[in-house]
Amino acid sequence: MEIKAIEFRDGRLALLDQTLLPHKTEYLECKTVSEVADAIRDMKVRGAPAIGITAAYGLALSEKPEDDANILLEARPTAVDLKNAVDFVLSKNLDGMDTLDAAKEWHNMIEEKCKKIAENGATLVKDGMKILTHCNTGSLATGVSYGTALGVIKKAWEENERIFVFVDETRPRFQGALTSWELRQLGIAHDVIVDSAAGQFMKRGEVDFAIVGADRIAANGDFANKIGTYQVAVLAKENNVPFYVAAPFSSFDLGIKSGDEIKIEERNEKEVVLDVYPEGTRARNPAFDVTPSRYVTAFITEFGIHKKIKEVEEAWKSIPV
Ligand code: MRU
Repeated sequence: MEIKAIEFRDGRLALLDQTLLPHKTEYLECKTVSEVADAIRDMKVRGAPAIGITAAYGLALSEKPEDDANILLEARPTAVDLKNAVDFVLSKNLDGMDTLDAAKEWHNMIEEKCKKIAENGATLVKDGMKILTHCNTGSLATGVSYGTALGVIKKAWEENERIFVFVDETRPRFQGALTSWELRQLGIAHDVIVDSAAGQFMKRGEVDFAIVGADRIAANGDFANKIGTYQVAVLAKENNVPFYVAAPFSSFDLGIKSGDEIKIEERNEKEVVLDVYPEGTRARNPAFDVTPSRYVTAFITEFGIHKKIKEVEEAWKSIPV
């Protein structure tokens, strides 16, 4: 079954409500820019490429896209796809293109880029490999058929059904449940593990390959991704497990020098304080962390597999816009 996380139909933006999955498959219909911003902020739709596409369609619901862009940009601060998508639609609109056509063009572009990422990344996965992933990076997180890191896994499975996936549950929002849901739809063998078990499985030699997505990649290769990614990267290095980052160019922010410049969203403590805690327990809840580039074996993009970010920049410059 093809998962359609984002669809523009009959003048409305339909978003598969990810906060209800896996128990309910319900679409939220947005008619205004503010409704779209709320859906992004409340994580009804989530994942860097998916919120970019959603924001692009959000502008198509606006009478004054230039004026309303900020409402969308302020919804979540860390993933740069949001800004890149908004900038794309606004600049196409300035050139005379209809905002809906521009949003569709952005959506199609992400579809194509993710397909290429999946193909490029799948060349690294060998028969029978056990792969660990963190967060959700599939159709739900990208609004397209494959996804980024999970797209690589899906493509590798199409070519070799013997692969196995360790799915980090990804506290506090349990994006691992979404990954597990997507893997189940396809029949890909996997086990969910608590985030703190990743190191133990690596130490026992049970993980051959670790792969994650990214929300913002700086010019030096430091990158922000879901909280807990940094731990996975450090543990992978310690245990000689190759650690890959799969992301389209829309997730790169080459205007910033390093990860120090990335703004990390801190969400409500209620997401952390489940009812196992006494009333009034305080918590901190950073939604993302920054992993230094030295932990990354290579970046997998639509252009290929790159050990150095410079290669991504050069590949980007070499294609006509
Ligand atoms: O808070 P979320 O669920 O939006 O965070 C999503 C992630 O961190 C993903 O790993 C990232 O966006 C890459 S998605 C293809």
